[in-house]
Amino acid sequence: MDKFVVRGGNPLLGTIRVSGAKNAALPAMAAAILTDEPVILEGIPQVRDIETTRQLLAAMGAEVELGYGRAHHRTTICCRDLTSPEASYELVKTMRASTLVLGPLVARMGRARVSLPGGCAIGARPIDLHIKGLERLGAKITQEHGYIEATADRLRGGQIVFEKITVTGTEDLLMAATLADGETIMQNCAREPEVADLADLLNKMGAKIEGAGTPTIRVQGVEQLHGTKHRVIPDRIEAGTFIVAGALTGGDLNVSGCEPKHLTALLQKLGDTGVTVLQSTDAVRVIANGPLRACDVITEEYPGFPTDMQAQYMALATQASGTSVITENIFENRFMHAQELVRMGANIKIEGSRAVVRGKTELSAAAVQASDLRASASLVLAALVAEGETIIDRVYHIDRGYEHIEEKLRNVGAQIRRIGEILPKRAVPAVRA
Ligand code: EPU
Repeated sequence: MDKFVVRGGNPLLGTIRVSGAKNAALPAMAAAILTDEPVILEGIPQVRDIETTRQLLAAMGAEVELGYGRAHHRTTICCRDLTSPEASYELVKTMRASTLVLGPLVARMGRARVSLPGGCAIGARPIDLHIKGLERLGAKITQEHGYIEATADRLRGGQIVFEKITVTGTEDLLMAATLADGETIMQNCAREPEVADLADLLNKMGAKIEGAGTPTIRVQGVEQLHGTKHRVIPDRIEAGTFIVAGALTGGDLNVSGCEPKHLTALLQKLGDTGVTVLQSTDAVRVIANGPLRACDVITEEYPGFPTDMQAQYMALATQASGTSVITENIFENRFMHAQELVRMGANIKIEGSRAVVRGKTELSAAAVQASDLRASASLVLAALVAEGETIIDRVYHIDRGYEHIEEKLRNVGAQIRRIGEILPKRAVPAVRA
């Protein structure tokens, strides 16, 4: 298992480029199921969740070309001959977003068999709202042997009011509704930019969607969709992670290729902590030239402060003077990084859904373990300001969603390297002269 070795102390200086959004690319790839023509997606990040989705689609009979080059990170997906409308436990257990194929499969094939995701490091994360929504569109759903089976001759438009705001739930049902018979009105939808990006793609494929990015989405079902080409939006969470890294290390960092208006809540909060933030059309420059002030944060659905930035913000809070109260409202168990930060010298107390961080504390290097994607990012950030050499284990979590993070950070001055598993000496065969 790979590890990162990080030596802290260097401010991040220069320009760092953001990749395409993982959480926009995943539903976009699932949307290709809705048509028998090729869908070309650009700006696909080179991360493990994309490879998992490639495997998922290939197992259904899709042709998926995936290529990463200097100019283009692109995938071409053709779902002409889908043979097996199934998402197996083996794949779903490694990536919960696999459940995004449920809606498109029932809509296009009339049948889907998708493993239930089970437990997860950041909370229970059920998919009951996806299921209820599909039932509202006329699907018949049964559950057996850990799998959900959904069938429908043709989905029919309906009214869906989400009891709770769900990002992939909104995306799943939006995709299903595009091929339903008649109009679907969805209320209390997620407003995340990734939902609006998916709707853009679907409209380019011939769907009739209005209101994506607002709480109410209207979809006029069509008979069929066609192929298209689409570039996914930049990754706002990767951008946010780099912006926090610049602020935390006392750096002067230009985060380029991002969409600043998707980052408003984070940028406002950083301004409150005393960091200078300069925005242009597709870049954010962060300059940290003074002490950081403690500020409270509450995670909320978009456009509120993202839960996917909570762990990284906690690393920053350890370096701010005063007490920061961080309230996690979206997931019930998303503080696994706190214990690891404490092992590095942070003063953090968890009280239910609140983390009370008292700063500033000097951090010192330790052996720490990544527990989920964003938790790993928070440990990398903390290590960048810790004294000594931090070893972060289980970086496969970070590889799920950050493209070559160690190379990108090294290019702006971080001392970070990846090491593979070190084999015990006796396992190395003797070399005869
Ligand atoms: N929920 C339900 N029932 C459902 C669906 C969700 O109770 O059927 C609950 C969840 O348990 C949670 C809340 O609703 O408490 C919100 O969950 P949501 O469904 O919005 O999360 P998600 O769609 O599974 C996406 C991102 C996550 C991100 C969340 C919240 C993707 C592929 N994943 O997950 O990203 O944290 O929205 O913004 O888009 C990450 O990238 O590290 C990541 C975890």
